Amino acid sequence: MNRAALRVSLLLPLLLLPALGRADSEQEHGGEETQHSAGKGHSHWSYEDLKHWSTDYPECGGTKQSPINVDTAQAIFSPDLRPIQLSGYSLPANQLLKLKNNGHTVVLELPDSLALAGGYAQQYRAAQLHLHWGSPAGPGSEHTVNGRRFAAEIHVVHYNTKYDSFTEAMVHPDGLAVLGAFLEVGHGENQYYHEILKHLHEIQEVGQETLVPGFNIAGLLPANLKLYFHYNGSLTTPPCYQTVKWTVFNQTMLLSHHQMSVLVSTLKSPEDELLQNNYRPVQTLHGRQVLASFQTTPSVKHTPGSDDSATAVFVSFSEGHSSSFHAGDVLAVLFGVLFAVTALAFLLYIYKHRSQNARLDSPTKSKVIYTAASTPWLHGLPTWTVCLGGSIWPQ
Ligand SMILES: *[C@@H]1O[C@H](CO)[C@@H](O)[C@H](O)[C@H]1NC(C)=O
Ligand SMILES: *[C@@H]1O[C@H](CO)[C@@H](O)[C@H](O)[C@H]1NC(C)=O
Ligand SMILES: [Zn+2]
Repeated sequence: MNRAALRVSLLLPLLLLPALGRADSEQEHGGEETQHSAGKGHSHWSYEDLKHWSTDYPECGGTKQSPINVDTAQAIFSPDLRPIQLSGYSLPANQLLKLKNNGHTVVLELPDSLALAGGYAQQYRAAQLHLHWGSPAGPGSEHTVNGRRFAAEIHVVHYNTKYDSFTEAMVHPDGLAVLGAFLEVGHGENQYYHEILKHLHEIQEVGQETLVPGFNIAGLLPANLKLYFHYNGSLTTPPCYQTVKWTVFNQTMLLSHHQMSVLVSTLKSPEDELLQNNYRPVQTLHGRQVLASFQTTPSVKHTPGSDDSATAVFVSFSEGHSSSFHAGDVLAVLFGVLFAVTALAFLLYIYKHRSQNARLDSPTKSKVIYTAASTPWLHGLPTWTVCLGGSIWPQ
């Protein structure tokens, strides 16, 4: 028998155990500071008020909300998802763009000459871009990938050209397309993000704005626009309209440590504190599919603290290196024991029948063979056992 096939068939039930165990880890990442300031009016939402957004904005309680956790193993590879193409993103320095602290984030207004040329079935124009971040104490991306939150996240918001304005488009199911990318700390300054970050000190107070010379906006997004995740979702802030076709890039952007601290520690909030942790927790998928433009190899998180033996076997099997040798040997022994027990039972059965026949004093080989073959449990034995039985049968 094929040893590999045997290992796989014996492993199947073991594989299911960790899969079941992971099912609930997709749930909301909640638990962030959600003290509801009951005294305050509801005209202005805040990230301290998350749990009550849906009171004033019912769509925030819907079933197609953003952000989400992207589980790469669950994402469906879709070869139809073409690379995203950006058209008109390189702006001349004499074209001035408005940069504003709106109390929730920093927004850079974009001219509608910027457009998405590929990747989406319909035509979309840019409206604005903005960022979400954490604090010096922790990351603050909105989307997460396999449960991991990144330092920050950029959203470039576009609206469908079949609508006259962003405001009109945002209420229609096919109205918006948002490109999202993760920001991480790496070595070296990011020259494109510098074009925005160098102006943050001018807009520290809520409502302040400044003008920024044009630059290549595409530099704020990953170089690789082929690798991304795609799903139907919503605005991540009130009114949470469920009208966004999301693209979340697999490649991340790198900012220097200093640039990241400028991002998380410059702007002020409406409460006159530092504007930090301006991200919404991940929302339940409610059966939505996440597509991937590329083949995501199933990966298993190695949890060092876990001593669940089923998980341990799964990890060693899936990683397939030296550790799978261990799993293979365990199964070989298991199979060997199973084999020995079955063979022993068979031998005992034969022995018993032979002595019975001997006592009856009128034995015929054909009668014995007929008796054995008609015994119900013998029919259930695997072929190899019957073959082995045949070979030891006295001729
Ligand atoms: C998003 O919604 C549209 C319209 O309902 C649907 O055709 C499309 O398949 C959905 N996309 C995904 C990734 O589920
Ligand atoms: C990119 O895709 C790989 C392969 O599925 C995955 O392991 C990784 O976490 C992804 N990263 C992001 C930021 O999407
Ligand atoms: Zn956003």
